[in-house]
Formats: sequence, C-alpha cells, structure tokens
Amino acid sequence: MTKDSLTLDAPATDDLQLGPRDGSNSRKVFIKTYGCQMNVYDSTRMSDALSRDGYEPTEDMEEADLVLLNTCHIREKAAEKVYSALGRLREMKKRKAADGREMMIGVTGCVAQAEGEEILRRAPAVDVVIGPQTYHRLPDALRRAKEGQRVVDTEYAIEDKFEHLPIAEKTKIRARGVTAFLTVQEGCDKFCTFCVVPYTRGSEVSRPVAQIVEEAEKLVDGGVREITLLGQNVNAWHGAGPTGEAWSLGDLLYRLAEIPGLARLRYTTSHPRDMDDRLIGAHRDLRTLMPYLHLPVQAGSDRILKAMNRRHTAAEYLALIEKIRAARPDIALSGDFIVGFPGETDQDFEDTLKLIEEVNYAQAFSFKYSTRPGTPGADLKDQVPEEVKTERLERLQALLLKQQHAFAEACVGKTVDILLEKPGRMPGQLIGRSPWLQSVNVDAKASQIGDIINVRITGTSTNSLFADLL
Ligand code: 5AD
Ligand code: SF4
Repeated sequence: MTKDSLTLDAPATDDLQLGPRDGSNSRKVFIKTYGCQMNVYDSTRMSDALSRDGYEPTEDMEEADLVLLNTCHIREKAAEKVYSALGRLREMKKRKAADGREMMIGVTGCVAQAEGEEILRRAPAVDVVIGPQTYHRLPDALRRAKEGQRVVDTEYAIEDKFEHLPIAEKTKIRARGVTAFLTVQEGCDKFCTFCVVPYTRGSEVSRPVAQIVEEAEKLVDGGVREITLLGQNVNAWHGAGPTGEAWSLGDLLYRLAEIPGLARLRYTTSHPRDMDDRLIGAHRDLRTLMPYLHLPVQAGSDRILKAMNRRHTAAEYLALIEKIRAARPDIALSGDFIVGFPGETDQDFEDTLKLIEEVNYAQAFSFKYSTRPGTPGADLKDQVPEEVKTERLERLQALLLKQQHAFAEACVGKTVDILLEKPGRMPGQLIGRSPWLQSVNVDAKASQIGDIINVRITGTSTNSLFADLL
C-alpha cells in the first residue's frame, strides 16, 4: 500500500494508539494463502481491512509484524501443511522476540474453522484463530491479542461480514491487476460425503445483488477488465432482482454484463445440479461470459456417484454437457475428479475413464480420496489401499493430460482475443489470457496491459501458448 492510500484511509482513533513503537504508523503483514480462489479473495479482503490499522502487505515474512496463514482443510495434506508451517513460525517468533521485535501469528480459513481451540493447544505461538465467517472482526481480535489475550472466533456471525469489510480504493485495485475475483456465494448445502466444505464454510449464503454490483463497478473503475465470480457452489447463487423477482446466477451474469468497461466474466465452482436453463442461456447470449466452465463430476460410476451423494448419474451429467455445448459450441470444459473413494472397484474406475473420454476436457484437477474426519465418507468400509489410489490417479492424469494437450494443439493456427494481463518472462513479452483460460505469451508493450487484442496462436508449451500479433 502507498503512503497516499494510508492517508486516505483514516484510522479509527483507538487504532492510532496501537501503531508501531517507532511511531511511523507502518506495520507489515505477511499473508500466506492456501487452498482455493475463495481463500485468495478472502486474503485480499483481510489485507484491505488491516490497512485501516496501518498494516502494509509484505512479501517478506522476515520483516512482518503479523503473519496470517489463510488455510485449507479440503484434504489431509493441506491441513498438515499448516501445522508444519506453524512449527517454523514459532521459531521465527522466538528469534524476533530475542531481538526485541514482536511478531503476531494468526490462523484464518478452513483449518481455523474446523479446529478452533485445538490450534491454540497444538501451536502455542498462535495469537488469533478466525474462521471465514468473521474476518471483519480480525482487526479487533488483533487488538485484544495485543493486550495478551489469545482469541478464537469461529462463530457463524449473524451480521454480514461483507457489510463490514472495506472495498479497496482505486489505486490499490489498479495495482492488483486487470483480473479480479469477487465472491458472490459462500458455503454449501450439498453434503457430498467426501467433503468438509459444508462444515467449514457452513450453509449456502448468497450476497445481495446490489452489494455485488457495487463491488464489481468499483473493480471496473479501478481498471479491472475481467471478473471471476466465486462461490463454493457458485451456481446455487440466488437473489432478488429490482422488482423483487427471483434471480439465479444467470440473471446476475446478464446484469453484470451491462457494466460498461467490464469485458469478461467467469464463475467457479459449479455443481451439475444447479446448471439451470437461465445460466445455460447466459452462455449462449453473453459474449462477455467466457466460453469456459468448471463443472466437477468427481466420478463416472453411478454407484460411486450415489455413495458420494452427488445426486445425479453419469448419463445426466453427459446430457447436461451436451445441452451446454449446444448453447455454446466453443465452450471448454474443466472438472475435478477423486480416485479411490471407499468401495471404488476397477470397474467403477474404468467408468470414470470412460466418462472422461466422452466429455473430452480442456483442463482438470484430480485427487486421491482423502479421509476427512467428521464427513460420512470417513465411516465407510472398503477404504481403497493407497497403492491402488496412486496407480489409478496416474492413469487418470495421463488421460486428462493427453486431452489438455490436444485441446492446446487444436488452438494452434486460430485467431483469438486475449486479455493482456502482465509482463512475461522475456523482455518485450506480455502474458495474456485466452477465452479458455490459457496463458498466452505474445510480444507487446507494457502500456497495453488491460487491452484485449486479437492474436494468432503459433505454438504450445507445457502450460501456455505462444502467439503473434495480427
Ligand atoms: N479427498 C480428495 N479430494 C477432495 N475434494 C474434496 N474433498 C476431497 C477429499 N476428501 C476435491 C473435489 C473437489 C475439489 C475442490 O477437491 O474434487 O471438487
Ligand atoms: Fe480449501 Fe474448501 Fe476451504 Fe477452499 S473452501 S480453502 S478448498 S477447504
């Protein structure tokens, strides 16, 4: 954050007394973000809230007065990472204390929500533990921690945190780049039997239209050209239109597409059960809505889909894909897959491969099933041995990678519009984003960042494309 923005953001009077010892009003916060894009978005909002108290973000943990770990609980490995990071932070805190410098440690996000007090027991260096529903209370929790109290706040707050979190000012939005996330929905009521989200993020809540539109307009005013709407179950978003009529995500997209200067819209992550006709219609009608859809299916066997409580069959998913492709023929599909869900046989796994063959994905994420305490899946018999999971994951990923490469290769020779996002690795090069979310390297001037230009794709590398200006 710049000095200017600090003076624009007048801190509350009691904040002033909490400034650093040198009286410079500058403190540094290092935020480490784990997990999904919702956490990335939340980290930004927390950073904005803390800037009111004089905290500037830093990339260097060494100079931080406050370290926040914004955590993920989705798989066991993700959660374990947090405790090992906390072990290292404890040493750093001790070392800094020996030099007379204070470093506070906060744990936020889904591990904070799931483990609460347990974190204080296991990690004595931690000062505050704040769940995703109460981020607006973080500054206050830090004040109390400064007075020596260790704070745990994992309540489901009745007040709307978004009403209490500041939206960044223009200069800061500009500095963050031309693409932005905007959370419109949180939580999940689907209760897939493998998943912790309904427990860590609570039940589904949709932000109101006016709040979303206001935030989107501010982002665009700050130079953002592409907004990705986020939600754990984003296509379950619902709200009320101007005359009180029921709106679904499709309606919201039509509304946001009217914002002058907003060139591109995306949304993630969706559940197949909530892909309604209005949303599919938005893919047909809105040029602003990019032809890319992340629509996880997790497995291709009806038996496993049932055990996962996905509440649809493989055939229903395939029929849905067909309908979406009919509305937007150039749409690229992405998915998530879990291998080794309890009870998954060789035949079930073959069914997943078959579904992947039928859909032909442009991109996908795949994971070994990880037992999450407290979820129904954890109590199922027939857990699949680790080596079987490993072998299945390798086969599945080889197939997905083949499809991803084929998709990229098929782009070569095409002319496409790319949004120029940031400097590339080579001097004189920029990285742009294709409609299908691929990174595209092209020679262009830094002043063009934010422009959408027409290029011809000339080649591919592992994770990106190359293009020439037309
Ligand atoms: N084990 C493995 N993968 C999981 N996911 C969610 N829960 C688990 C679990 N227990 C995957 C799903 C989901 C993605 C975000 O993470 O594929 O779509
Ligand atoms: Fe991880 Fe899910 Fe929480 Fe995102 S919502 S951080 S994926 S547990």
